[in-house]
Amino acid sequence: MGMPTVRDLKAKAGDEPITMLTAYDAPTAAIVDEAGTDIILVGDSLGNTSLGYETTLPVTVDDMVRHTAAVARVTDDALVVADMPFLSIGVDESDSIENAGRMLKEADAQAVKLECGPHTVDLTAKLVQLGIPVMAHLGLTPQHVNQYGGYPRQGTDQESAERILELARKHEEAGAFSLVLEHVPANLAEKVTDALDVPTIGIGAGPGCDGQVLVINDVVGLSDWEPPFAKQFGDVRSEMENAVEKYNDAVESGEFPAEEHSHYEDDLDELY
Ligand code: KIV
Repeated sequence: MGMPTVRDLKAKAGDEPITMLTAYDAPTAAIVDEAGTDIILVGDSLGNTSLGYETTLPVTVDDMVRHTAAVARVTDDALVVADMPFLSIGVDESDSIENAGRMLKEADAQAVKLECGPHTVDLTAKLVQLGIPVMAHLGLTPQHVNQYGGYPRQGTDQESAERILELARKHEEAGAFSLVLEHVPANLAEKVTDALDVPTIGIGAGPGCDGQVLVINDVVGLSDWEPPFAKQFGDVRSEMENAVEKYNDAVESGEFPAEEHSHYEDDLDELY
């Protein structure tokens, strides 16, 4: 896919919902891409899933550049979207532009995702004008964990639902090419989806969005903790535990390495 547009995304997915998954490294991205996933998000969930942090807050722009580049190197068909980490945007406009630009210039992403609020409307317009496509993200924005005191559902009362709808419209007007809606009531997600021309991609937002996204570790069964809206479709943890136990047993019993894993040089016998 070339430059991401609504048309590209809708055309690619056809009448079926858009599929989006996170990936943070090359082997996982290759699997996700080869399976025909429409969008790979290099989420700042990198912090929890791969870097051992409790939240996404410590993730840096350099972390995102390195992991996005690894994903983009092996991705042929999916759209690669890089998440902008905590405080990398929204503090100072030129820093925000430079940080977002690095995801395209250095890491070969095709778009960036911003955790949004009133402060990202003008920035979205500016980034889009400069040629940096923006995926907006509303509802639960995990970079606000300290304000929320956890990861609660959002848009559950009239006022906050209106705020999400209004911000969704504003980000579309500013040029965002799609919108992630996280952990909001399904009926709010349907309303937002109806109100926008650009596709919505839901996570914990019900079936009424134009697409769905989940964190790959939750999908394959590799997470210590999963949000209530995630679904596990595989059991990679058990597979890995099995393989590691078998390896340890084989080394301890002397079964590994066997003859076929070893090589000998006749000349070296003379060393003794
Ligand atoms: O960082 C992330 O993985 C995300 C998705 C959950 C949407 O923002």
